[in-house]
Amino acid sequence: MSVLNAIKKRGSVRSYKPDSIPEDVLDRLLDAMRLAPSGGNQQSYKFIVVQDQKIKAKLAEACRWTPGAPKGHAFIAEAPVAIVACCSEKGAISRFYREGKMTLAPGRDVPIEIDRSTAGYLNLAEIDVAIAIDHLILAATEAGLGTCWVAALDELEVKKLLSVPEDMRVLVVVPIGYTDSWPEPRPRKSHEEIFCQDRYG
Ligand SMILES: Cc1cc2nc3c(=O)[nH]c(=O)nc-3n(C[C@H](O)[C@H](O)[C@H](O)COP(=O)(O)O)c2cc1C
Repeated sequence: MSVLNAIKKRGSVRSYKPDSIPEDVLDRLLDAMRLAPSGGNQQSYKFIVVQDQKIKAKLAEACRWTPGAPKGHAFIAEAPVAIVACCSEKGAISRFYREGKMTLAPGRDVPIEIDRSTAGYLNLAEIDVAIAIDHLILAATEAGLGTCWVAALDELEVKKLLSVPEDMRVLVVVPIGYTDSWPEPRPRKSHEEIFCQDRYG
């Protein structure tokens, strides 16, 4: 399957069959993530491969839109594998712009006087994770496996459940599995709505 065909075929799958994923197939998916680029090649992430059914069930519960809401994303527990993406903001490359100078530095070296809340500051950790997850999702699509980005989660609950260290963030959970209900393509904005030529317009 070409990359473009995988991009066209992919859709968010929210119903999974219990069939397990062959080890060599899962290894290929994890390698697709491992080979992803990252700012300054820092690779300041860790991905937890969750296969234990009890842990997956608790993870599904912790993936909720509203804090305290009783029902989570039950389909995560249906899938044989769920990937939990964690990143270190300190370890990632940061971009900051000050006094006419653009600087790229690992987050931990950003001088304290740089105001992290301004538009001059950007930490690339989340971008790095997003690229790796997209690699995973496209490789899974090629292997005939469904996936779904899940960013709705109670981060503290997930961290506690999976023993994620204090200084790591949990960004997203991605269930992976075979499915009987491959989704129809969702609508997208037109070419004209999202592209412009030479200037913003
Ligand atoms: C960053 C991100 C976070 C998302 N979080 C959730 C989520 O928490 N729960 C969910 O069911 N879908 C989630 N989605 C899936 C989107 O709703 C879905 O990608 C979008 O509606 C387009 O549909 P498609 O993926 O089928 O093309 C997320 C997608 C992205 C990219």
